[in-house]
Amino acid sequence: MINFKEKIAALLVETVEGLTVEEMRDMIEIPTDSKMGDYAFPCFKLAKLLRKAPPMIAQGIAEKLQGGEIFDKVENVNAYVNMFLSRKIFMKELVSSVADQKDNFGSANIGNDRKVIVEFSSPNIAKPFHIGHIRSTVIGNSIHKIYDFLGYDTIRINHLGDYGTQFGKMIVSFRRWGNEEDVIREPIKTLLGYYVKFHEESENDPTLEDEARDVFTRLENGAAEEIKLWQWFRDESLKEFNRVYEMLGIEFDSFAGESFYSDRLQSVVNAIQDANLLKVSEGAQIVELEEYGMSPALITKKDGSSLYITRDIAAAVYRKEHYDFYKNLYIVASQQNLHFQQWIKIIELLGYDWAKDCVHIPFGLVSLEEGTMSTRQGRVVFLEDVLNRAVDQTKDIILEKNVNTDNLDITAKQVGIGAVIFQELSNNRIKDYVFSWDKILNFDGETGPYVQYTHARAASVLRNGGDSLNQALAASDQAEMGYISGDSAYELAKLIYRFPEIVIEAGEKYEPSVVTRHIVDIAQVFNKFYHDEHILVKEEEEKKAKLLLVYAAKQTIKNGLKLLGMEAPERM
Ligand code: ARG
Repeated sequence: MINFKEKIAALLVETVEGLTVEEMRDMIEIPTDSKMGDYAFPCFKLAKLLRKAPPMIAQGIAEKLQGGEIFDKVENVNAYVNMFLSRKIFMKELVSSVADQKDNFGSANIGNDRKVIVEFSSPNIAKPFHIGHIRSTVIGNSIHKIYDFLGYDTIRINHLGDYGTQFGKMIVSFRRWGNEEDVIREPIKTLLGYYVKFHEESENDPTLEDEARDVFTRLENGAAEEIKLWQWFRDESLKEFNRVYEMLGIEFDSFAGESFYSDRLQSVVNAIQDANLLKVSEGAQIVELEEYGMSPALITKKDGSSLYITRDIAAAVYRKEHYDFYKNLYIVASQQNLHFQQWIKIIELLGYDWAKDCVHIPFGLVSLEEGTMSTRQGRVVFLEDVLNRAVDQTKDIILEKNVNTDNLDITAKQVGIGAVIFQELSNNRIKDYVFSWDKILNFDGETGPYVQYTHARAASVLRNGGDSLNQALAASDQAEMGYISGDSAYELAKLIYRFPEIVIEAGEKYEPSVVTRHIVDIAQVFNKFYHDEHILVKEEEEKKAKLLLVYAAKQTIKNGLKLLGMEAPERM
């Protein structure tokens, strides 16, 4: 697609001597008020170079640009040159680019196949996959898709919490109060029950904690009985996680979790020791980080068992060796900020220059209207239940609204689950938010259902356009876009034009909400256009021009939804 800013910079260079295209380009602005043009060029900075007053310079430049074929109009207002693009040229360029690129519209090759690891979801085994985990899962999946679209070679890793003292607790609790039948019948909820029970009991009997630590040490040392139970808990939990991932349409390239690194922990400890970073404190081994404004990092416990942080260091070293990543991204809650700062610092102190390529991407808390959740007290909402409820409620809404669908079950699933995903990705990820049913399923708000509905509405117009659409698509570079002159059409075209930049911005900021908000804007302006203009008119060339714009809007919304990890139903 033509880069109009670049093109304008090239024209500007011819009007003023002594500046490069890049310098010109950096000075070009996009006015917030479109009455001031599509692009504006402020002349203040040229005053010194040209020894002239800025308004005079602006006037001179405007005169020279006047009449250029890519402009409808060039004006000068005070020190500014305000440029209005030729709507006809702009829209033709836009619709033919989208018609060409289709599902790839908005993609780029800036990644050059460099490897980006996106670690996300990473729930803890034998604990429920609750609504708090959905954040990492959904944000991470979207970041992976955005990086993929930008031409990076992405690797999705689920760093399962499948190791650590909680397994000691689970095993102790199972042995004392559990039975196999319960676990088989209802694995996750039963295992969670054991975990809760352990914490209740250990309040009165502190020796339980020691017992659990002991059991975990035996597990780390490879004791057959403990390994067998651990493996069983892991398998049962994975079954449930996979059910949820399937509902969300999410896949992983690797499930190498914490346990995967157990035989590499000693070499990490050795490396830390060799670097003279290891200190013994009350029998435990630590790394002092006071110099860097952080509390010490605990590397091994008194009893020699390893810790979460040690496993993270081992994992990062392994990933560098195994994948030679360009970036290693961690989508993990902001509560773990200190943890990530600590271990990334240790990696740096070990002399690994790639420490800077390990990036923690934090996000805020999700709470329920009834208050935050806590695994220990058993107050959790299971993600699977949330998704099922979203689908059921959507089904009711579809029936009630008499929405036309190809298949009620499939559409309800796409829209219901999409609503949950969309809500997650609507605000800046760092913000805390309260999960609300009413908000997410509202078909008229800035919601997933609203955007999907707009997409389906555009799809329906295109179906009604029939053969005219096909002809228009086959010859989009000859479209008579002069037929569309309304402001809402032009505003819509401008938003679509910005989509590729929006994807880049979302990638740079690790912020899917940039995409979410942009497709809400497109949907809103599309609906305005749909309302303002009669699309399926008699005049064939006019109809084709309008259909091409509808096509571009639909395709862009679809590509945006895909980047969020959502479906774009054709009918609803
Ligand atoms: N399993 C952890 C939890 O649920 C998250 C793991 C985050 N990833 C990491 N590499 N530490 O809290």
